[in-house]
Amino acid sequence: TPTDPIVVEGKTYPRDAFSNVTPTILSKLPRRLHLSPSHPIGILRTLIESHFASFKHLNSLSPIVTVQQNFDDLGFPADHPGRALTDSYYLNQTHMLRTHTSAHEVESFRSGLEQFLLTADVYRRDEIDRSHYPVFHQMEGCSVFDPSTGAIERLEKENAEMRAALKAANIVIEDETGEETATNPYQAEHDPRVARMIAEHLKNNLNGLVLKLFGGRASQGGEPLRVRWIEATFPWTAPSYEVEVMFNGKWLEILGCGVVRQTALERSGVGHKQGWAFGLGLERIAMVLFSIPDIRLFWSEDARFLSQFREGEISTFKPYSKYPECYKDITFWVPTKEEGVKEWHENDFMELVRDEGGDLVESVQLIDEFTHPKTGRKSRCYRLNYRSMDRSLSNEEVNRIQDRVIERVTGEMGVEVR
Ligand code: PHE
Repeated sequence: TPTDPIVVEGKTYPRDAFSNVTPTILSKLPRRLHLSPSHPIGILRTLIESHFASFKHLNSLSPIVTVQQNFDDLGFPADHPGRALTDSYYLNQTHMLRTHTSAHEVESFRSGLEQFLLTADVYRRDEIDRSHYPVFHQMEGCSVFDPSTGAIERLEKENAEMRAALKAANIVIEDETGEETATNPYQAEHDPRVARMIAEHLKNNLNGLVLKLFGGRASQGGEPLRVRWIEATFPWTAPSYEVEVMFNGKWLEILGCGVVRQTALERSGVGHKQGWAFGLGLERIAMVLFSIPDIRLFWSEDARFLSQFREGEISTFKPYSKYPECYKDITFWVPTKEEGVKEWHENDFMELVRDEGGDLVESVQLIDEFTHPKTGRKSRCYRLNYRSMDRSLSNEEVNRIQDRVIERVTGEMGVEVR
């Protein structure tokens, strides 16, 4: 019931005004797709781990973290949109489901780890379509060192080796972020020569990884692989970058990264160290490499999906059949602020639909919107597309879900269904 404490993984979390995790979301925690060696997410993890073979590999950290770990320790400002109840899942005011693997950086640095690769499930409230799912997987890679231990020389040597290997490879790297810029500066605490060397070490490692994952895939047809580096902003790195890869004629954003801010290292008690960090999303990459058309498929327990993949192999998924879709529209008046009810947020509606429909909902699209000229009330029409990955749905089953959705939006969100 709504006042009982939330019990997850044997621990109890008292509810408060922040609690917004749903049973549907909590039911995903035990799946641990990244640990299945012959699941696409597990296969990709292993492949990436082999690129960072000398790193410590961490794969079983709990998804429940403190708000401090996920946001404060990394320097997220108090008003950062990621903190909003509409964007993140909270157990209560102090505990949440991590929204990114960076949540474990500070504690890892604090424990003395220097080179590590951490794979985990992460959780974000979002829209519903074929490439968004409230749970996905990230890998965080970090490399920090104490410059007084000969590490600078090692970095220089590794950079020279990696530079030569990349030069010989069939890859075109588009990078206008090479030097410090006014919008993406080095940290004031850093010797610019060392900062440049760390940034280059980060880039060489990741260009090598991209080459390993995407180079020589059939869809490139002998053409060089194209990678581009773009300036980015993250509160705990400077300079910061994003990486995009050209695949099937489209730029695919695959990761964020940067030189770790000394403030984050100081908070971890290792202010004498310097280094880099990156975080990449596994589903996006797996979808293109394995030709998986719908993100829900990763969660399928159907043998027709699971039996297609082999440990250590990237293979092309063969769709076993596409079941018919069935869509139902819902139109309602959204309450205005003056009506004094809880403010309307689209993600709350998405969450409610996910909670009732689970993986049977393929997408939710806003198809019409207008404002009543006299009352100022807004009307919204959403189309809910129902389709199972594994079987045909009956009209009765879909109607039952749709009726529950209507009942709950009316009861819980103060909207008036038209
Ligand atoms: N955590 C960031 C994200 O989810 C990615 C990132 C990781 C950026 C490490 C910088 C350093 O977008």
